[in-house]
Amino acid sequence: MLPDMPVIARAQRQVLHRAVRYMAQQGIDQFLDLGPGMPTVGNVHEIAQAVNAEARVVYVDVDPVAAAHGRALLARTEHTGVILADLRDPTYVLSHPVVSELLDLSRPIGVLMIAVLHFLGDEDRPADVVEAYRAATVPGSFLAITHATGDYHPDMAKQAEEVYRRASHQMHYRARSEIYGLLAGYELVRPGLVDMIRWRPDPDAGLDPLGGDVTRYSGYAAVGRNPEPR
Ligand SMILES: C[S@@+](CC[C@H](N)C(=O)[O-])C[C@H]1O[C@@H](n2cnc3c(N)ncnc32)[C@H](O)[C@@H]1O
Repeated sequence: MLPDMPVIARAQRQVLHRAVRYMAQQGIDQFLDLGPGMPTVGNVHEIAQAVNAEARVVYVDVDPVAAAHGRALLARTEHTGVILADLRDPTYVLSHPVVSELLDLSRPIGVLMIAVLHFLGDEDRPADVVEAYRAATVPGSFLAITHATGDYHPDMAKQAEEVYRRASHQMHYRARSEIYGLLAGYELVRPGLVDMIRWRPDPDAGLDPLGGDVTRYSGYAAVGRNPEPR
């Protein structure tokens, strides 16, 4: 149904790389990756540790297969941990012993929700979930997201949601304004919430496989900074 999906998945991954590199360059040396899937090429710790070898990463996935493979593959990788948990339970995630061991929440951290928020339905109160993680981090922390949208191809989005109804996770395409609302507590860094291939594109990336057609990616990306309290 979605022949562009392999390209879209890689593009999400590239946003992840650009966002982690950006955060690491701002001095972030600890990351909480919510919904990482199985460890693959260019994981968060690899990107972050290329900037700072001491960077620490905790991966949190609700899929037992992803978490088990993650644990096995990262068993000998320093400064990383894997938790089997549901990101919709921030209290459980943030008080988990692996988080306490690896992350110091009294210092800024980078929270990643790449291609995962669209698996939360409105009944999961995604804005409250995002806010709970923001509130648990100190000012100067960051959040990176990508999120699928039906803004360009609403019929495609409806059909895809229908297919996902038969899968382990349901999919919720959202409008840009709704996604913007999920980030309410954050100050978005430039260029804001934009079509994902337009979020600080890598000048050396070469030709875009979909001809730079943002409508075929149907996804937005943003990085927000947790501001000082007013
Ligand atoms: C499309 S993959 C994204 C993988 C990775 N972030 C990336 O961009 O390459 C979505 C992942 O989120 C996980 N996931 C979905 N809902 C979740 C939840 N409520 N809590 C934790 N992980 C979740 C899925 O198991 C899956 O591994």
